[in-house]
Amino acid sequence: MNHNIILIGYMGSGKSTVAKELYAKTGMEVIDTDALIVKEQGRSINEIFQTEGEESFRRLETELLRRLSESVSSYILSTGGGMPVREENRAILKSLGTVFFLKADTETILKRVKGDTQRPLLQGTDQRARIAGMLKARTPMYELTAHHRIETDGKTIEEVVNEILCLARK
Ligand code: S3P
Repeated sequence: MNHNIILIGYMGSGKSTVAKELYAKTGMEVIDTDALIVKEQGRSINEIFQTEGEESFRRLETELLRRLSESVSSYILSTGGGMPVREENRAILKSLGTVFFLKADTETILKRVKGDTQRPLLQGTDQRARIAGMLKARTPMYELTAHHRIETDGKTIEEVVNEILCLARK
């Protein structure tokens, strides 16, 4: 297996923040799939969802993963929260490196995404029920994809990052 570090987990589970801190500690390049899609498409995720729908965004995610599977550099991959929903994506993610599922509960996520306007799937009423429902549906897929589960509730970024590095170096 190559040495890439792959971060998966629900929106607000801390993937981007953890990726930044991992970069600070290792100097490994960070690839953020959302940011790369936005850059390549020249549109925000909201715009992609609004004009072409979620399926189209999911296709872009899979295309990006396919491209990454052809490259060999050493990187930290921070993925969009829905990436492991497609079976094909799960297989690619697993083959790209060591996959870490950043697990957070509904209350932690609610606190972190409060006031967010950039995530189309979190807009609208009753955010708590929406998050709880999606977490329930997606958690088995995150578990299926990950080599390691990292519980993040009540932990500092530093603690989460140290756990990841410890496991990645084994
Ligand atoms: C999504 C998560 C978002 C982004 C898009 C859809 C999801 O990424 O890819 O809004 O389906 O969970 P983050 O997990 O980085 O917020």
